[in-house]
Order: sequence, then C-alpha cells, then structure tokens
Amino acid sequence: MAGSSGKLRLGVNIDHVATVRNARGSMWPEPLRAALLAEAAGADGITAHLREDRRHIRDADIEALMAGIGIPLNFECAATAEMQMLILKHQPHAVCLVPEKREERTTEGGLDVASDQNRLGDFVAPLREAGIRVSMFIAHDPRQIEASARIGAAVVELHAGLYSELHAEGRFEAADAELAALRRGAALAHKRGLEVHVGHGLTYDNVAPVAAISQVMELNIGHFLIGEAIFVGLEEAIAEMRRRMDLARAGA
Ligand code: PXP
Repeated sequence: MAGSSGKLRLGVNIDHVATVRNARGSMWPEPLRAALLAEAAGADGITAHLREDRRHIRDADIEALMAGIGIPLNFECAATAEMQMLILKHQPHAVCLVPEKREERTTEGGLDVASDQNRLGDFVAPLREAGIRVSMFIAHDPRQIEASARIGAAVVELHAGLYSELHAEGRFEAADAELAALRRGAALAHKRGLEVHVGHGLTYDNVAPVAAISQVMELNIGHFLIGEAIFVGLEEAIAEMRRRMDLARAGA
C-alpha cells in the first residue's frame, strides 16, 4: 500500500553475518540469531540476499529465517528461473529484485526494468498472484520508475548508493543534488501508486535526510549496522538507527 505518512519501517539486512560465518567455513555467527536480535531490537523486517553464488546467505538460511522470525522476510535475489522457483517454494512476505554480477562486491547499480519489461513482467506476475509483494531495486531514473509501475511491481526501492558515496567523500553539494533526485523519484513513484523504499550505504551520518522524505515507507540497511554491531552490539546499533530515523521523520 502506498502512503505518504506513517511510521518509517526499518528492514535490517543480515547478509554480512553470513559473510563472517562463511569466511571461516563454520556455523557461526548464525544469521538467524542476528535476525531474532534485530526483531527484538525493533526491526520491522529482515532482508536476506540469496546470491546465485551463495557467497553469504545460503538456501538453509532462508529456510531457517522463514521458520524462525516473526517479522516479514524480504527475500532479495536476481530475476532468474532458479530464484523464481525458490520464491514460490518459500513464499516470503516480499521479494526485492536486484541486478547481480558475480564480480561485484555488492549490488552496484539498479535493475534496468525499462529495457527488460517483458521478461520482468512475466517474472513478477506469478509472484503477485501468490500474494508476494514485489519490489524493484532501481535508480531514481523516471524511466525505471514508470517501467516498474507498468510491469505491476508493488514497490520500488531506490538505490541510495551514489548519495551515500558522495556523502562519505565529503562532496556535500553533489550529495545534495543526488538527494534531490531521490526526492523527485520518491514523489513520482508514489504518484504512480508504488510504495517507496530506499537502501544501500545508509549510515548514522547520512540517514536523516533520506528518512525525512515523506513518501519513503521503508529503509533497508545492512553493512553499516552489522559493522557497528561489532562495537556496540546489534541491538544498540539498531536502536540508534531507529532513533535517528524517527527524529528525522518527526522533522527534528
Ligand atoms: N537494499 C538492497 C536492494 C541491497 O542490495 C542492499 C545491499 O545488499 C541493501 C539494501 C543494504 O545496503 P547496505 O548493506 O549498504 O546497507
């Protein structure tokens, strides 16, 4: 449901708990335990990206998360036949479709929905029929937003990577211009009936202006929170992010 007010949700991405586990080829730390802690700390959802190469989250993690958490699972994946089969098998609350390249360190760009409308429309249709909310992870480009609406997506997640990068480099004028483009994208998506999420690269320092965009209903945050958890614990990291999001939303 698209809206322009209400509580801003926080989706916590736990991929990098699995990254640490896999670095040792052991069973620890467990992504499910992180998800349960995130839930207890006030996360509104858990995001997990099942990559084609299974470099962090694995199939067994998705099974454990589906069975173990009490908040919605946002299953992030590429739009491949294998993933479509897994989505329909697990029936998560939501799916976020992302582009995926084996050589990338993280999801580097948005999905090119405009150039791949027919295929993505066919991919999304059975998921919609199964009652799964489908989100397209896209740049704030109006063409991508319009195409996402046309193929029947319920949600767009706008890629905040460039904004975050510019902000981290201290290029604040350029970051502000990118923020303005995110705002325009959020307004257009909302107008087209799409629910708006934002994610990638968000931190304590850069989250406030994004959280203040009234059409944005959910932020998905992973790497920074998992890193911060090393120092203060996951619950405290999430509580502090929540506090900053809520303050920004309230106009403080
Ligand atoms: N949203 C999507 C669609 C992503 O691919 C990622 C990165 O996995 C995130 C949000 C979270 O980004 P970060 O880990 O930089 O907070």
